[in-house]
Amino acid sequence: MKTSTDTPFIFPRTGKAVKNRSVLAAMTNKQSHPNGTISSTELKWLVRRAKGGFGIITTAAVHVSKEGQGWEGEIGLYSDQHIKKLKNLTSEIRKYNSLSFAQLFHGGQRAPQKITGKKPISASVNKTQYSLDGESNSANKQEIKKIIRDFTNAALRAYKSGFDGIELHGAHGYLLAQFLGIKTNRRSDEYGGSIVERSKIIFEIYKSIKKIVPESFIIGIRISPEISDMGIDLRDTISLVNHLAKLDLDFIHISCWDINAKSKKYINSDLTLTEWITKSIKNLPPIISTGNIWTLNDVNDVLDQGASLYGVGRAAIPYPDFSKLIEEENFNPSKGPFTYDELRNVDVGDVFIDYLRSWKGFIIDKP
Ligand SMILES: Cc1cc2nc3c(=O)[nH]c(=O)nc-3n(C[C@H](O)[C@H](O)[C@H](O)COP(=O)(O)O)c2cc1C
Repeated sequence: MKTSTDTPFIFPRTGKAVKNRSVLAAMTNKQSHPNGTISSTELKWLVRRAKGGFGIITTAAVHVSKEGQGWEGEIGLYSDQHIKKLKNLTSEIRKYNSLSFAQLFHGGQRAPQKITGKKPISASVNKTQYSLDGESNSANKQEIKKIIRDFTNAALRAYKSGFDGIELHGAHGYLLAQFLGIKTNRRSDEYGGSIVERSKIIFEIYKSIKKIVPESFIIGIRISPEISDMGIDLRDTISLVNHLAKLDLDFIHISCWDINAKSKKYINSDLTLTEWITKSIKNLPPIISTGNIWTLNDVNDVLDQGASLYGVGRAAIPYPDFSKLIEEENFNPSKGPFTYDELRNVDVGDVFIDYLRSWKGFIIDKP
């Protein structure tokens, strides 16, 4: 039987149920407090999407180390002081029968020195606009140990905050992706070399987290299949996913930007990025795939490509009830530009609206 968008989904290992196939993808909105505690505005934005029917609510990227912060107004989980307010978030989300995931992140070479006060670290010495001399440091062994510890402690705090699980942010060019990319990781120790070695840090983070969270806690990872300027290549990604499939991961989230896009490099194939993965690898954990989903047709496309769950980013900003709206025959979503009032009416705060002005064509200001 064909999977329908509102068919419940059960995470096989933990038995945790999702009421439908929809996932609010992580979206940075810069609305939290300078000390990393979540603000009521950011909480409201997320809870409105739970109320709107999303099966899983993912937070914006949350920094696991103070020195890993990527933007102002970002939620933190580097200290126990963050737990109390996040508990309010997760209990509000649970009222709507949605699951909640914290997206755990370290900016690496993209953690600006002007925010953290520290020179960024990465897998290697890489060019960055963010440190005073324009280069990241290459993380030494002690720093790698600290990164692993910080992800582990943040995962435990996410559990204590009431989240159902975490998504490790291995996509979009931040620290974990910097380890995965052959151009950004030129190490000659055990954390560099083949894709197996470049993913060693992720394996160590996963294993360390596994030791301290209960079995029921969901652990997944988000990856980008291709980022050519970092040396993240689709063939390597397939090897990576094959390797990751040996872990007991609860999901792999593929960030495609467009679920119908083909590989930019392997252009002679008709496969979409999601299909490259779902069709080449057996024994995959459940797949979430995200990118340019606006209609029921888009959702059906990505489920047909082999994803178990579909992620929604931009469409969830104007349409918090997206997962219900797509079931309506006459739903014909606008892709923007949206007015200030339209967004304020669906609990998008002023700071987020301001940030969205940098996403071309999304906001239209009053004349
Ligand atoms: C404003 C904004 C902020 C984002 N922040 C994050 C983030 O914190 N972490 C992440 O993994 N992806 C982030 N993304 C990417 C989205 O999760 C999603 O993959 C992307 O927008 C493509 O999906 P869409 O076409 O449904 O928007 C962000 C996207 C937007 C529009």
